[in-house]
Amino acid sequence: MAKNQTSYICNHCHYSSIKWLGCCPGCHEWDTFTTARQTSTRSGTSGGRQTPVRETRVIPLKSVSTTHRQRMISGIGEWDRVVGGGIMPSSFIMLTGDPGIGKSTLLLQICNKLAQRHRTLYFSTEESLQQVKLRAERIGSIADGLHTSDQTDLEAIIATAQQEKPELLIIDSIQNCYLPGASSSAGSISQLREAAFLLMRLAKEGGITVIITGHITKEGTVAGPKTVEHMVDAVLYLQGEERWQSRMLRAVKNRFGTINELGFFDMEQHGLREVTNINAHLLSEASHVPGSALVSIVEGSRPLLLELQALTVESKLAVPQRVVSGLDHKHVVLIAAILQKYLQVKFSAQDIFFKVSGGMKIKSSVVDLGIALALLSSYFQQPLPKQSIALGEISLTGQIKPIDQLNTLIPEMKKFGVTQLILAKNQKTASLPCPTHRFHSIYQLLSLFEQ
Ligand code: TYD
Ligand code: MG
Repeated sequence: MAKNQTSYICNHCHYSSIKWLGCCPGCHEWDTFTTARQTSTRSGTSGGRQTPVRETRVIPLKSVSTTHRQRMISGIGEWDRVVGGGIMPSSFIMLTGDPGIGKSTLLLQICNKLAQRHRTLYFSTEESLQQVKLRAERIGSIADGLHTSDQTDLEAIIATAQQEKPELLIIDSIQNCYLPGASSSAGSISQLREAAFLLMRLAKEGGITVIITGHITKEGTVAGPKTVEHMVDAVLYLQGEERWQSRMLRAVKNRFGTINELGFFDMEQHGLREVTNINAHLLSEASHVPGSALVSIVEGSRPLLLELQALTVESKLAVPQRVVSGLDHKHVVLIAAILQKYLQVKFSAQDIFFKVSGGMKIKSSVVDLGIALALLSSYFQQPLPKQSIALGEISLTGQIKPIDQLNTLIPEMKKFGVTQLILAKNQKTASLPCPTHRFHSIYQLLSLFEQ
């Protein structure tokens, strides 16, 4: 491409074009093209290079220093665990979630703690410093080491950071920053990418830990944080569950920790409060009634106990309804089809409603057996054995398969007084806390409902 040629990029789907277009051929949205600066002058064949190429120094991998820098522990356990046991120094982290979910509150709480030991700069690009102070007062005392500014010019922010050399730099939010020299508009995809690139260099070369926040827009794409996910070391999502004011922090990417690690909080009068005994919380609504089945999964490093709730009811519709939340809809339909095929239960004439307690979302197939039992329990109007947990996968041929990680789940089950386990016949286990029902095929599940 010729030197300094202007190109245009769609803010919606990133389609790029050398001329401006009214309607994007990629996503068919209108008026989404903005200019993107072409800085590439590296084409050797074009002869466009003006500065000579400098050779880079290569060193033996063995000689690279890996001196351990201590992670920054905030003392807020749920956060520290999700980021991988404290924040890794010089890392670049993005915290994202819907507007109003509590990102600024969480970050202010974290840096208020960290600022007691680490020099911290907090740039509030969305709210005035008065608003930040009011929030800080609402959530507790303000640490002396916490310095703030409402600067939104990213070049000025970076220059300040290079001069002040904080250990931690927060920018809340990245979408409200602007780059004075950029030809694209503030908040556009190309500017967001450029900003993220500059901050990544600041983190890696300047040895500063950078945390940015970014809203997910309604479409999840426009100027969306997704476009910079590949540049950051960790992506944390703060998600909400309206009923309990509860907030879930999830690491979907983490170069310095486990992914899918979950942290639980409640949004209260004075900020976010950690929920440490989450299983008591999740199980608090479980009851010994038809349609309820208890299961357990491992999320990140933490075992969770959950209740599945099924309701099957004779359908008045030509195509019965399947309303599922917290699980893949197709997966529940598949288990219902397997049960219908081998047990002759007529789910094809039933509406099926299915949900997971606490608004949790499950991807693991270890809950197959739990799904089957919840459906059958509702269908036969009989509860499952009291305080029982079902763990097993189900094959398309109706066989019940053992699961991995049972041993990780056992201590948590013991803690919550689980009295019976429903498992695959050939499930290998160390010592079990309670009696078990073991089945190798779904035919045998009917024995649980024969009374
Ligand atoms: P905020 O952190 O501003 O959200 P975000 O940065 O993700 O946009 O949180 C805003 C909401 O949180 C607002 O509706 C008020 C509520 N909130 C509380 O309930 N308690 C509190 O102590 C604080 C600080 C906020
Ligand atoms: Mg905010």
